[in-house]
Amino acid sequence: MELKNDLLLRAARGEKTERTPVWMMRQAGRILAEYRAVRAQAGSFIKLATTPEMAAEVTLQPVDLLGVDAAIIFSDILVIPEAMGLPYEMVEKSGPIFPATVHTIQDLDKLHIAEPETDLKYVLDAIKLTKTGLAGRVPLIGFAGAPFTIFCYMTEGKGSKTFSVAKKHLYADPEFSHLLLQKITDSTIAYLKAQVVAGANLVQIFDSWAGILSPEQYNTFSLPYIKQICDAIDEVPVTVFAKGAFFARKAISELSCSVVGLDWNMDIAESRELIPTKTLQGNLDPCVLYASYDQIRKEVKNMVQQFGTQRYIANLGHGVYPDTDPDKVRCFIESVKEFSS
Ligand code: CP3
Repeated sequence: MELKNDLLLRAARGEKTERTPVWMMRQAGRILAEYRAVRAQAGSFIKLATTPEMAAEVTLQPVDLLGVDAAIIFSDILVIPEAMGLPYEMVEKSGPIFPATVHTIQDLDKLHIAEPETDLKYVLDAIKLTKTGLAGRVPLIGFAGAPFTIFCYMTEGKGSKTFSVAKKHLYADPEFSHLLLQKITDSTIAYLKAQVVAGANLVQIFDSWAGILSPEQYNTFSLPYIKQICDAIDEVPVTVFAKGAFFARKAISELSCSVVGLDWNMDIAESRELIPTKTLQGNLDPCVLYASYDQIRKEVKNMVQQFGTQRYIANLGHGVYPDTDPDKVRCFIESVKEFSS
């Protein structure tokens, strides 16, 4: 179907746009009362994420209620370990945990490469239903975690400030680490390709824990696997968002992706210099949305001026925080539209 608003895709491809497209990481499911109502009806996050009708409904909410220029499919990066044979649980008000974790080549041998058509059919069905619900209003973003970030959860078993259990494996058992990373990568490529067939118009790779690695470790354990994914996906634009990996911007600029996501620690002018040929996405500190309306408008104006209106997708520098006032979010979105027109 022809898209009525294709600003995101034109910006991603480096084509001219009459204004800057805007969406927010974690826009589906963190801030809206309408989300919490569906979430309560589902009873649990996993029930919601695995019921395509409900997942599609909450994917559409930010488009209807906030005026963003893209939808992102409601799911989680942790569906990949689950599809490989390592299930997760979502603990209320705390986060994900894995009852079993992976530490040896024997553990790894028990896992399989995900088969999206069976193991992740519920996500593909949610994408198809979302596309019907969108009726071409805006593009749909698919996503997956970067292999290194998924590796962190599969070995550590839960969130962590340091992920020292995960990093221990990189130093103590690089052979195991590379085998697990490759299995995650093969699963992720199959999964992203299936998302595209189901209707995703662009896919984003979230390397949320990139920032805990040294540059050498990043080049050894994260970048080569992201490269495999970028090289394998040539059907739609790919966005690489490596949170905290300011040191890797030059290397990321050499990947075959279309868009590079920035967090708020990364200087905009310096990033333009380091990544001259790609579209940039980001990078407002999500905490700016706790400020006054005037302050938000000022910060957005400043951000748009620094990025320029072209080859640019406006976003936060990481996911929106759960206690953000939806009216402040609307102010952010409206301000981008106003200052970039
Ligand atoms: O962007 C979107 O709105 C689409 C949905 C989405 C979710 N998770 C839904 C979710 C996306 C893109 C993700 C990605 C994700 N999940 C990341 C990468 C992005 C990032 O923030 O760095 C990571 C690291 C995860 C793992 C994860 N899932 C954590 C650490 C948690 C707990 C804390 C939190 O974020 O709320 C989750 C749970 C989760 N994923 C929720 C939602 C809506 C909350 C669960 C609930 O409703 O109870």
